[in-house]
Amino acid sequence: MREIAFSELNFNPFSLIAEDWMLVTAGTQETGYNTMTASWGHLGSIWGHGGGKATAVIYVRPQRYTKEFVDRESMFSLCFFDKEYHNALGYLGSHSGRDGDKVAHVGMTPVFSDNTTYFAEAKLVLVCRKLYQAPILESGFVDRQVMEDCYPKRDFHDLYIGQIEKVLIAD
Ligand SMILES: Cc1cc2nc3c(=O)[nH]c(=O)nc-3n(C[C@H](O)[C@H](O)[C@H](O)COP(=O)(O)O)c2cc1C
Repeated sequence: MREIAFSELNFNPFSLIAEDWMLVTAGTQETGYNTMTASWGHLGSIWGHGGGKATAVIYVRPQRYTKEFVDRESMFSLCFFDKEYHNALGYLGSHSGRDGDKVAHVGMTPVFSDNTTYFAEAKLVLVCRKLYQAPILESGFVDRQVMEDCYPKRDFHDLYIGQIEKVLIAD
């Protein structure tokens, strides 16, 4: 993997996250890590800190084991993959790290770096530093139907805004 500048990136942010999915990963070799598939998120900018570094927003439901790691750590990574890994992402998004070593099951290779963990098989890695965390609030829904459809159990996601500290792409 090699580091590149933001200006070298060239992708459709809508299909990259919503259709191709990503892995949200937090933790280290020393403290343990976990990963899960996500298809909800945003790439953009807010607050203008860090010399104009871009930001990423992710949404994690309370019941995800990965949430314990994202909450505990100061960093998280977002990993994006070629289509051949779609089934693996499906597995990582339908099994919990609480129940076994799902990363070993799909044969991915964790890379422990930058105070977080990402995967050697990724085509793109965004290493993020947490800036902000907050729960989605019931009182915030202008369209109440969205809330009824997505949160019948009122298990609202926490959103996390991360400053993208490093962009890595496959060699
Ligand atoms: C395509 C896909 C997208 C998903 N997107 C999200 C998401 O954006 N946020 C979330 O909290 N869970 C999402 N999930 C569910 C988690 O990936 C899933 O519950 C996973 O098993 C959690 O693993 P963990 O308990 O090891 O953290 C998604 C699952 C799939 C298959």
